Amino acid sequence: MADSTATSSTSAPNPAVNARYALPELPKVAGVDLERQPMDAFRLAVAKVVGEAWDMDPAKIFPAVDVGKKDADLTVAIPRFHKGGKPDEWAKKVVDLFKPSNALSALNTKGPFLLFTLNKTGFTYHMLRTISHMARDARENPTSHSFAFGTTDESKGKHMLIDFSSPNIAKPFHAGHLRSTIIGAVVANLHEAMGWKVTRLNYLGDWGTQYGLLSVGFDKYGSEEELVKDPIMHLFHVYVKINNENKDEIERFNKGEVTDGDNTIHAQAKRVFKAMEDGDPKAIAQWARFRDLSIEKLKETYERLNIHFDVFWGESKVDPESMQRAIRICEEKKLTCDDRGALLVDLTKWKMDRAIIRKGDGTTIYLTRDLGGAHDKFKIWPFDKHIIVVQAAQALHFRQLFKTLELMEEPMAGKIEHISFGLVKGMSTRKGTVVFLSDILDEATEQMHEQMRSNDVKYSQIEDPETTSRIIGETAVKIQDMSGKRVNDYDFNMKRCTSFEGDFGPFIQYSHVRLCSVQRKNPNVPVASSVEDIDLSVLDEPKIHDMIYHLSLYPTAVRNAYVQSEPSQLVNWCFRLGHLVGSAWETVKVSGAPEEEAKARLFMYIQVREVLASAMRLLSLTPIERM
Ligand code: ARG
Repeated sequence: MADSTATSSTSAPNPAVNARYALPELPKVAGVDLERQPMDAFRLAVAKVVGEAWDMDPAKIFPAVDVGKKDADLTVAIPRFHKGGKPDEWAKKVVDLFKPSNALSALNTKGPFLLFTLNKTGFTYHMLRTISHMARDARENPTSHSFAFGTTDESKGKHMLIDFSSPNIAKPFHAGHLRSTIIGAVVANLHEAMGWKVTRLNYLGDWGTQYGLLSVGFDKYGSEEELVKDPIMHLFHVYVKINNENKDEIERFNKGEVTDGDNTIHAQAKRVFKAMEDGDPKAIAQWARFRDLSIEKLKETYERLNIHFDVFWGESKVDPESMQRAIRICEEKKLTCDDRGALLVDLTKWKMDRAIIRKGDGTTIYLTRDLGGAHDKFKIWPFDKHIIVVQAAQALHFRQLFKTLELMEEPMAGKIEHISFGLVKGMSTRKGTVVFLSDILDEATEQMHEQMRSNDVKYSQIEDPETTSRIIGETAVKIQDMSGKRVNDYDFNMKRCTSFEGDFGPFIQYSHVRLCSVQRKNPNVPVASSVEDIDLSVLDEPKIHDMIYHLSLYPTAVRNAYVQSEPSQLVNWCFRLGHLVGSAWETVKVSGAPEEEAKARLFMYIQVREVLASAMRLLSLTPIERM
């Protein structure tokens, strides 16, 4: 029967109801946060009975209480504690002691496993209570935008600097940058969820000989008007043109067809870059305009992706003195060798080859800037951890960087991590094979828009179909990128990733839209203000248990995604939740159900929605309400 007939106006918890689902006294285990993770209370209940039966400290048992396994709600593998011997005898000790409670309703055994069944109503109560309280706190406290379920404070006070996206000016934003942007944003969010303070840094490729070449190219082919209109596209076209010309000329030079070596494009470009490195104001001024205009354009694209940076830094910002210092330390520590005027660090002993840190003409290179940059970044943004998200193709570069920093005995050595990822294959747009991110997003938007238009009735109810299709298109591209393990390559497939059928981005949005629609379509069903306001007995159905159980696995999914820097852990959690919601949809209905049932189910669906929305936000998605 109903716990209370009160409607949504009362929010005071009902102590009688609280008492009814009170858990048995639980052992204290350091680091367990029952406020945020109700499942841990149930794991503690298991640890308690097993500890008593085996005369062991429950804190030792607790980490071995597994969730999310096939055979039972909570599992303990006996051999983790008692190798050899007879598991049956150890099992019997627990079985003899076990008594059903508000935490656990049954204990079975299977081979070497103890299989515990949750007290479903007790579990539902504690889960819904926690989620609804946290959702309310998030709503009522506008300064904290975050919903606490799934988060921890374990890294409070620590600072993580993340270098991600980091495209090169005047070169297209390629698939590698897209992946870095998508994965990096989520890795950053996951760190915040674990209590880290995070600084998001975009380390632009805005320095190097190619800017000398670009400058020569711009003087020849550049157009002020085009530059202002679309700097990234225009600079790219100029760069391609001059680069091809340069290559031809080098070939002709090698054949002896070009004799004036001082006036080749290559020689001019080198001179310009040298002038830039020497701080020549004219060379710098032009470059600075290219950079500023490109950043402006990039910001628009990041805006579309719902991704933000705290700082636009870059190779050009590395202090020349820091690079000289790095070179000096390498020389003093006898890590270097010469090769035709160039200076290299010799890492052959560690099977990492030799790597140039100063070119023959005295100019610096990508690695020199990362060496000096490590020093500068550590000084400007003192970090406990620094993550750099870059495609696997640069693995050797980062191994060389980290080894050199270690040999230099730099204080930040060992605190920097390269998070790498596989290739995207077959990425092209209708416009051609060189891919601009904005074209990809336009195309995804268009695909979604077409699909939405195919249902006239629904389409007419969407307030802003442009924005909606843009968001779903963005979701499709992101989810395709994050569905598999990041080390794996994948085939970019616009048609497939925007499909409504199957485990793709639109399905996650669709699941959220469904959950939003329950409340909208049932305006007459009262929204309970707290779990004390609903009759929990009507939620005693397997499909509901499955959903609630899956919600309880959310903090684990967040944690795994964080520990492994693997967004796919969270994406797969979302897919599974979507399927569970889909499977409950036809039977666990709100419309047409008796009032108490409708009210309890609505309350439950609202909590499911809250958690899904939170997962989506961690994945940098914008949960939409209608589509
Ligand atoms: N701009 C580089 C590229 O596009 C990526 C930079 C990554 N960050 C770093 N600190 N090296 O390949």
